This record gives sequence, structure tokens and C-alpha cells, in this order.
Amino acid sequence: MPHAIISPSVLASDFGQLTAECKRMIKNGADWLHMDVMDGHFVPNITMGAPILTCVKKGVPDIFMDCHMMVAQPEKWVDDIAAAGGALYCFHLEATSDPLALIDLIHGKKMKAGVAISPDTPSSAITDQVANAADMLLVMTVYPGRGGQKFLDRCLPKVADLRARFPEKDIEVDGGVGPSTIDACAHAGSNVIVAGTAIFNAPDPEQVITLLKATVNTAQAHAAAQRAQQ
Ligand code: DX5
Ligand code: ZN
Repeated sequence: MPHAIISPSVLASDFGQLTAECKRMIKNGADWLHMDVMDGHFVPNITMGAPILTCVKKGVPDIFMDCHMMVAQPEKWVDDIAAAGGALYCFHLEATSDPLALIDLIHGKKMKAGVAISPDTPSSAITDQVANAADMLLVMTVYPGRGGQKFLDRCLPKVADLRARFPEKDIEVDGGVGPSTIDACAHAGSNVIVAGTAIFNAPDPEQVITLLKATVNTAQAHAAAQRAQQ
């Protein structure tokens, strides 16, 4: 059964103190840190790239960097992100014509491979072959590009479809996720939870992380018990 993983999105952090912000989140119970890399091409915004991730890894050696690559030509950055200490390289399916070759490239650099789909991409675009090769699937619940957007619940049937097809796979949701939307995400079957605003802007981030994790673990245990009965 896939267990709950909470990955606060640093897009909502104080970038001027990124290393300290990552340490603060780990202290508050974060499992991973979600690093939003944007290149100004795949999305209009520009955030950070491998040089900044290198510094973060140096300052926080134990960090698991869940790198969300909102970039055109994702093949181009695999080497640099691996060298920077990225643990998971999640590319957008919309940005590549050969996802299987890209997954191989990522695995060759000893990183986990994630495949992301934007709100307008159907879950059927992720073939069984691609999903089986990948370590994680990311269903975006906002349009990629900025934090603090409203959660799109019309994306949840895609999570449910992927969970039905791949009961053991890590399935991540990203965008507008927080205490008011976690029930629906957990029920649909996601177990890797990204939250930016909801965690970084909270007066008590630890409380939010604990709530998100508990909600997912309860839903996963419930689903596993139901599967066992069938
Ligand atoms: C959006 C990013 C998200 C974003 C989530 O393009 O991929 O990771 O930071 O932020 P919130 O949780 O504020 O929607
Ligand atoms: Zn993201």
C-alpha cells in the first residue's frame, strides 16, 4: 500500500532564505520538498534551476528534492538536476515526445522518474507502459505556473482512474491542496501531497502536515481493506 508522503512546495517559501525554509519544513514533518523548476517556456514564469538546487542540497544534505520540471525539452536538464542532488525528476508528458526514453535517461542518473499531466491532459494519455516504467504519476490540480490558485476538482477523476489502474504506484497531486481539499484528494487515491500556500502560510505548518498525512493514511488503509475484501 503506498503510504502518505507530504511534499511542501517551496514556491510559497521565502526564496531569500530557501535553505532555512527547507530545514524548517523538515523539522515540521515534511517528507520531501517540492522544488518547482520553471523555465519561462513551458510556463510563463521563471523560478530556479540546478545552481540553486545545488546550494540547497549543500545546506540540507538529507533533503529529498522532488523536482517538478515545468520546462520545455525536459531531456535537457536531467544531467544538471542529477548533479545538483535531485532525488526525483518529474517531467510533463506534454513536453516530450518520448517519455519512455526520458524515464530511462532519468533512471540512468539514479533518480526516480515522475510523469506529470496538466489539467487538460486526460489520464488515458499515460499509457500502461509509461506508468509501469515511472516511479510516480503527478496529476496537476491547477494549471502549472504559479502558486495560490484555486483547486480544480474536475481533475480528481483522473487520480481515481490512475489509482484503479495502478494500486501500488505513488500518485501525487499538486495545486490548491490543503486542509479543505485533502479529503477529496485522499479519497480519489493520491498519496503524495504537494501543498505550497496551505503549509507555508499556516501559523502552524506542523499541524497542517500532520493533518494531510493522517487523512491520506486513513484513506489508503480503508481502500486497502476494501480491496482485500473483494
Ligand atoms: C504550480 C506548482 C505548484 C504550486 C502549488 O505551478 O506546480 O507546486 O506551488 O502551490 P499551492 O499549493 O499554493 O497551489
Ligand atoms: Zn509543482
